[in-house]
Amino acid sequence: MSENGFISAKDVVFAYEPEEGQTPRNVLEGVSMEIRRGEFVALLGHNGSGKSTMAKMFNAMLLPTGGKVFVEGMDTVDDAIVFEIRRRVGLVLQNPDNQLVASVVEEDVAFGPENLGVPPEEIRRRVDEALRAVGMYDFRLNAPYKLSGGQKQRIAIAGIIAMEPDCIVLDEPTAMLDPQGRTEVLETIHRLNEEKGITIVLITHYMDEAVQAGRVIVMDGGHILMTGDPREVFSQVELLKQHQLDVPQATELTHRLRGMGFPMPCTLTAEECVEALAAYLPPVG
Ligand SMILES: Nc1ncnc2c1ncn2[C@@H]1O[C@H](COP(=O)(O)OP(=O)(O)O)[C@@H](O)[C@H]1O
Ligand SMILES: [Mg+2]
Repeated sequence: MSENGFISAKDVVFAYEPEEGQTPRNVLEGVSMEIRRGEFVALLGHNGSGKSTMAKMFNAMLLPTGGKVFVEGMDTVDDAIVFEIRRRVGLVLQNPDNQLVASVVEEDVAFGPENLGVPPEEIRRRVDEALRAVGMYDFRLNAPYKLSGGQKQRIAIAGIIAMEPDCIVLDEPTAMLDPQGRTEVLETIHRLNEEKGITIVLITHYMDEAVQAGRVIVMDGGHILMTGDPREVFSQVELLKQHQLDVPQATELTHRLRGMGFPMPCTLTAEECVEALAAYLPPVG
């Protein structure tokens, strides 16, 4: 039993099956990380750094070619417990259209628990609760294809919640959404974390989403580049830039001003940035 993390990856190495004539190439090269129960972790890194591959390790959709992944101490390579792992760790992908299977919203949400063999009356309760949790109960009899991107993604999340997982891993869930849809999805996952204690691993390339996480893990070229709370990570502007990674806009501005000789703090949000700038402005009135 791993005592450190709810999910625990130890020296994980992974290579996809190579195309004919090609040699296998490691896309994860010894990744170790711990995700603690109840955490909200943002996983960052530019394209190809191995984030999606890592996400699929967390619910045994992919198995390490070297090293180990444990979920509540259960080794993901153990065939007999894949079911137990998938019940605990749900995966939400980028494109909601690929995740919705039924023609009515509530049937879609019921799909997961049905596959788990949950009794019908219990499914009814779970589906209603999951739809309320994502603010989509009023749409339960609608056709998913008629919903907006943000609404579809919330239905996909409801389908995962209905399986009552301890942890939800979301792989760029807002990448295909408009600003309104992004806000809906972000608010939903924060509420699930805060009110239900569901552990969240959010893969994102939006820095403003990462700023709201409890902890940030940055991957680069199949390795972990750094980890820490958002301020610890984003204060390392130069290191992030060397690895072609962005920082939040506020952080960028105060960093540049610091370079011009203004003793600015590291800011993460527009509000913090305004406060730091206000110190240099003459008082109003
Ligand atoms: N199904 C696959 N087959 C072969 N190579 C893959 C496959 N999926 C991803 N890769 C490669 O693995 C590396 C890591 O990809 P991925 O985990 O998707 O990174 P990220 O999510 O950070 O963009 C990339 O070089 C990518 O091209
Ligand atoms: Mg990816």
